[in-house]
Amino acid sequence: MAVQTRVVSIFFIQLVLLAVSGLNRVSGAGLQTGFYDESCPEAETIALKTIRQAISKDGIVAAALLRLHFHDCFVRGCEASVLLDAAEEGDAEKDASSNFSLRGYDVVDDVKSAIEKSCPGVVSCADILALAARDAVRFQTGGSSWKVETGRRDGRISLSKEADENLPSSNFNIAQLKQNFAFKGLTKKDLVVLSGAHTIGVTSCFVINDRLYNFTGRSDTDPALDPTFASELKKKCKPGGGGPVLELDQGSSTVSDAHFYKAVRQNRGLLTSDAALLNDPLTRAYVKRQSTSPVKATFGKDFGKSMVKMGGIGVLTGNEGEIRKRCAFVN
Ligand code: HEM
Ligand SMILES: *[C@@H]1O[C@H](CO)[C@@H](O)[C@H](O)[C@H]1NC(C)=O
Ligand SMILES: *[C@@H]1O[C@H](CO)[C@@H](O)[C@H](O)[C@H]1NC(C)=O
Repeated sequence: MAVQTRVVSIFFIQLVLLAVSGLNRVSGAGLQTGFYDESCPEAETIALKTIRQAISKDGIVAAALLRLHFHDCFVRGCEASVLLDAAEEGDAEKDASSNFSLRGYDVVDDVKSAIEKSCPGVVSCADILALAARDAVRFQTGGSSWKVETGRRDGRISLSKEADENLPSSNFNIAQLKQNFAFKGLTKKDLVVLSGAHTIGVTSCFVINDRLYNFTGRSDTDPALDPTFASELKKKCKPGGGGPVLELDQGSSTVSDAHFYKAVRQNRGLLTSDAALLNDPLTRAYVKRQSTSPVKATFGKDFGKSMVKMGGIGVLTGNEGEIRKRCAFVN
């Protein structure tokens, strides 16, 4: 059970980290909306324009940008460590196995260079990630919007092992997910709300291979998957992980809405971690509420609130860190 052993060991590494250092201070302290109003008034408009262009060319960019901000914030806080290239071969967060298929770096670079032209050295890459995540959701059909707090500074360190230690695995059960989010100062409510990010974007057959073909190591299928849905997926995905990309929210992956919760409730969530939201009374109740509420579900509003909270994890402000000139490199 290599995967499960690894998951368990990551879980314990996280426990130890928490005990040793009380890492991951959550504070939006020092952040504010409109931080660049004086120093670079056009920053948010430039970001918005560049992102809108990128998304209109390739819709999948939206999901990529949303995920980048999450992966940034969960490792060393929201300080753009996810964007750094390795100082040594294979050593940066980008190189971690948990980076798995992150993309959208080119769009972030485009936003950064557009902003640098107007106001060099002022706007951090970490803030660009936060703005990009908001704008990405906003340009989805049905997407909500929220006010992004800015004023983050960029870090100087990026380590692949920290990505593996801090990012939740798609094989996590509900207890592991709650714990992982709690380490970041996020509640169960944040967990169920932010998992709703999977209303857009894709995964691969590889990620769900064990759920379909080798759940307990005995060529079995995860009983938590709706059996009809499991056979549909098996038609697409070959044993071993070959097959097409799969919409995380099947049939609705370009629309930012509460449909994801309906799928989860019907045992049609693709990831173990999505399905696990049914295994806690609070998260289960939320899934149920969102999947049954009429058109105006509260998901959009909840999502903005939890995103602002996530965007405050471990931020560097004031004189901490730096404002990178290029997002992939420390100055
Ligand atoms: C709760 C724990 C979470 C787990 C275990 C998890 C895991 C995953 C996995 C395995 C994928 C598919 C990657 C691939 O197949 O290449 C994925 C995709 C994605 N995740 Fe999550 N995720 C979690 C939470 C989040 C959060 C909090 C956000 C953002 C707020 C997020 C945003 C996304 C997006 C947008 C995609 C699609 C990316 C794309 O299409 O490029 N996820 N996630
Ligand atoms: C299924 O899982 C078991 C235990 O983790 C592993 O030893 C075996 O190689 C896997 N089989 C396939 C076909 O992946
Ligand atoms: C993520 O990690 C994989 C596996 O280590 C690597 O092949 C891939 O290039 C990395 N992705 C990025 C965007 O760096």
